[in-house]
Amino acid sequence: MNATVLKSTAQAMVASGKGILAADESSGTIQKRFDKIGLKSNPDTNLAYRKILFTAPDAQNYLSGVILFDETIKQSINGISVAEYLSKKGILSGIKVDKGAVDLPDFPGEKITEGLDGLKERLKEYAQLGAKFAKWRAVITIGQNIPTDACIDSNAEAMAKYASACQEQDIVPIVEPEVLMDADNTIEICKEVTTKTLKAFFAKLVEHKVLLEGIILKPNMVISGKKCEAQASSKEVARQTVGTFLEVVPKEVCGIVFLSGGQTPDQATENLAQINMISGAPWQLSYSFGRALQDEALNVWAGKDENIEAAQKTFLERVKKVSDARSQHPAF
Ligand code: 13P
Repeated sequence: MNATVLKSTAQAMVASGKGILAADESSGTIQKRFDKIGLKSNPDTNLAYRKILFTAPDAQNYLSGVILFDETIKQSINGISVAEYLSKKGILSGIKVDKGAVDLPDFPGEKITEGLDGLKERLKEYAQLGAKFAKWRAVITIGQNIPTDACIDSNAEAMAKYASACQEQDIVPIVEPEVLMDADNTIEICKEVTTKTLKAFFAKLVEHKVLLEGIILKPNMVISGKKCEAQASSKEVARQTVGTFLEVVPKEVCGIVFLSGGQTPDQATENLAQINMISGAPWQLSYSFGRALQDEALNVWAGKDENIEAAQKTFLERVKKVSDARSQHPAF
């Protein structure tokens, strides 16, 4: 493990004004996204779409990195590998290495993320293909009597093993414990579950001797569940989110990049701006959005070549807005 390499990659991932595009939808997920525009997903249509995002002019001004799916990192753009294309543009390539979340046996409604089998070999291969960082997503669901300690602890254990394996290969692990935002819970419940989850995950990371300066945390914002009648304001989301992290996230962690989790692009952007307006956080507070960066551009493209330019313009407008949100400064 080369701590200098890990720290410098992690710092580059949260460089000023920049964030990460999550474009690592698995085959099932990209089909779900394409369903909205009536398109069949296959390696060609997937690349045609992702190329629109990656080749958007000036995207490198707002993107430090892109998270790729296994299929994409093995594809080419303009005759060179996708990772090489992005690297020439000044954008780091990352790779989703988990194998998805499956039902946790005997724990109804809960999930465990798989993918530790053969991980070391896959990481070595991805490093050769140009990956500088990786992603592993754990899913924590809020519901009646869940999450259980068993679910949180088993996901934390798997996350720590993944993070340690990444650092051994000088690949920065994105640690993504996602508390889902879909239920009818209040923001207070989200805070309680997020606090408990992050505490358990950091305890395991420390136990497994993961270098905290060489990871990037990718959490949910602390927010009201989508089906909750009383929706907290952006200011409240920011207050609760930063408050939670100050309580439980070690200051050594290089940076925090939020997922959007199904918020609308405007919501995710506004919440990120309010989060950055609160002073006192020792970490960079940036973005690694999937849907909030992509949804509008995908709709404009609609699978038609004649819409590519307009889709790129839409994508760039959004990523610039999100970059501006991340660059807000505390109002004293
Ligand atoms: P969303 O921003 O759409 O939640 O996606 C981010 C991500 O990478 C989820 O794993």
